[in-house]
Amino acid sequence: MSRDGTPRGSRENEVREIFGRCQTAPVNREQISRIAHADHPIKSPLGDGSVSRLLEQGLPRGDERVLDLGCGGGEWLLRALATRPLLHAEGVDTSEDALAHARQAARRLGVQERLVLHHQDAAAFTSPHPFDLVISVGATHAFGGLAPTLAAAREHLAPGGRVLIGEGFWSGDPSPEAAEMLGDLSDLPATVEQVVAGGWTPVHGHISTREELDGYEWACWGSLAAWALDHPSDPGSPQVLATATTRRTEWLRVYRDVFGFLCLVLRETPA
Ligand SMILES: C[S@@+](CC[C@H](N)C(=O)[O-])C[C@H]1O[C@@H](n2cnc3c(N)ncnc32)[C@H](O)[C@@H]1O
Repeated sequence: MSRDGTPRGSRENEVREIFGRCQTAPVNREQISRIAHADHPIKSPLGDGSVSRLLEQGLPRGDERVLDLGCGGGEWLLRALATRPLLHAEGVDTSEDALAHARQAARRLGVQERLVLHHQDAAAFTSPHPFDLVISVGATHAFGGLAPTLAAAREHLAPGGRVLIGEGFWSGDPSPEAAEMLGDLSDLPATVEQVVAGGWTPVHGHISTREELDGYEWACWGSLAAWALDHPSDPGSPQVLATATTRRTEWLRVYRDVFGFLCLVLRETPA
């Protein structure tokens, strides 16, 4: 979610936009993103149990080839690889910093031989082989929306494969300010209907709970605030604290009551 019209549910881009305003920001946007997600490495409003269940539904065998478009720090792939020794995974992201983080984590987990990371625009990614599961969570802005993201995923899918998609939706009537902030979302039924109209059948889904939505916001803005308080002599500290305050207020005043997040595991509907 951002004010620059790109993402939905993307705190990384929020942070980018915040620090774009600060001409002399001593803490760069990648550092800010890392701090904001320190306690919530999945960059979407989902708890660990929900992530595990979604992966179980997307990876019924355990020996699949998986692609994550907009993988960030690779958290979905790392969790899948760590628990499935026969799995192979590839991730695509434009953030070199996030990919470096994924590489380090893969080495720590001993799964680096089974993980390939691509530093490029996900919309331009091509592969010589198809994938059994294509993941894209909180990254539909990379493709220009939900429908084009699913169309791109279809291009990478092996016969019988699955897609795991994560997207925001309106859980209430958005104010003009919320619509401006979060972009062109639909309500929950319309979001699912749009997916079905695109030739997909949901075989599993998860709607983020109030606890997951709030937990994500507190993790992001709380981590920033705590970092600022823990580094009072850092030149970036006042800006980081102000950012945490502003974003927490916007969440509570503008979008907390109207923003929801949906993940779906999809299979292609037979023609
Ligand atoms: C909200 S984060 C989600 C990361 C990850 N899917 C997760 O759930 O933890 C969105 C990610 O999309 C990436 N991204 C944005 N535009 C992109 C593009 N055009 N191509 C590839 N990745 C992109 C960002 O760098 C960021 O890592």
